[in-house]
Amino acid sequence: MNEPTVKLVCGDCIDFMRTMGDKSVDCIITDPMYNSQINMDELRRVCSGHIIMFCSPENMFFKPDEIAYWTKTPSTKNYSRHLGRFVEYILIERHGDTFNTDLHWSNYTGVYTDMIQTKQVHPFEKPLSLMERLVLIYSKPGDTVFDPFMGSCKTGQACLNTGRDFIGCEILEEYLKLAQKNTASCNHAQSRYNKCIIDRRMMKMKRSTNFNQWRKAGTIKDVADLFEKFGVTADDLRQYQKEKAGVRRRKYTCPRCDNYVESEISNYDNSTVCPSCENDVIVDI
Ligand SMILES: C[S@@+](CC[C@H](N)C(=O)[O-])C[C@H]1O[C@@H](n2cnc3c(N)ncnc32)[C@H](O)[C@@H]1O
Repeated sequence: MNEPTVKLVCGDCIDFMRTMGDKSVDCIITDPMYNSQINMDELRRVCSGHIIMFCSPENMFFKPDEIAYWTKTPSTKNYSRHLGRFVEYILIERHGDTFNTDLHWSNYTGVYTDMIQTKQVHPFEKPLSLMERLVLIYSKPGDTVFDPFMGSCKTGQACLNTGRDFIGCEILEEYLKLAQKNTASCNHAQSRYNKCIIDRRMMKMKRSTNFNQWRKAGTIKDVADLFEKFGVTADDLRQYQKEKAGVRRRKYTCPRCDNYVESEISNYDNSTVCPSCENDVIVDI
């Protein structure tokens, strides 16, 4: 299993989408400002799957196939001239047949009451748990999800936590920095999660009779078949062996910058990152 990838773009999503290919993403999950200009034709051009969009009940950006509802935490702000806003619509335009039916039934009620669990970092941020539900229902692992109005990147965090690639666009640099920070911390969580899955698959594979037979007299084809059967890719295996082999700390002359430096070198393939030039290098020791 590969690590999910993240691409964060700073700029106007209208400009960014012009650079995107037709059907280059599998799903759009986004939360524009209430008064944003939305070009649905452009969203439909770049996306092959579902388009999921938050909006206020008074300003629906398009006529959806289905509507879900997010009831927010009541706030005590400014009721003097209008009613408080406790509900947001989640518009759903369905394309294709991706719809994950393997979740607990409570995910399909279409009425969500998730609350933000952490300190507020963006004035309009959504609860991570809500974004994870939407990502899990409307996309598949390995899909690419796009959020043109990314904000603090809750959609992106949800994608990383659930094994989807993510592309996000944000017009304000301060929020882009926030998004970078949020996805960096997720990346670590995701690699731990991947490692755990790979460990489990490897253990299962080792326990299987086929594995012991292969150890005695296996051909390359047997090995490949076995790995495929247990969903272990060559990259997974390299990562697994690298982590199992551990590291040692050594001084060496960097083959790229020629400086005499010290760092942790993998026992598996002698790879390291040079602390002086910051290149990935293979050390000859
Ligand atoms: C409602 S917020 C999204 C909040 C996000 N769901 C979260 O959980 O943090 C909308 C975001 O879209 C950004 N935005 C507004 N117009 C934009 C545009 N044309 N292109 C890209 N981003 C835009 C705003 O700066 C804001 O951060």
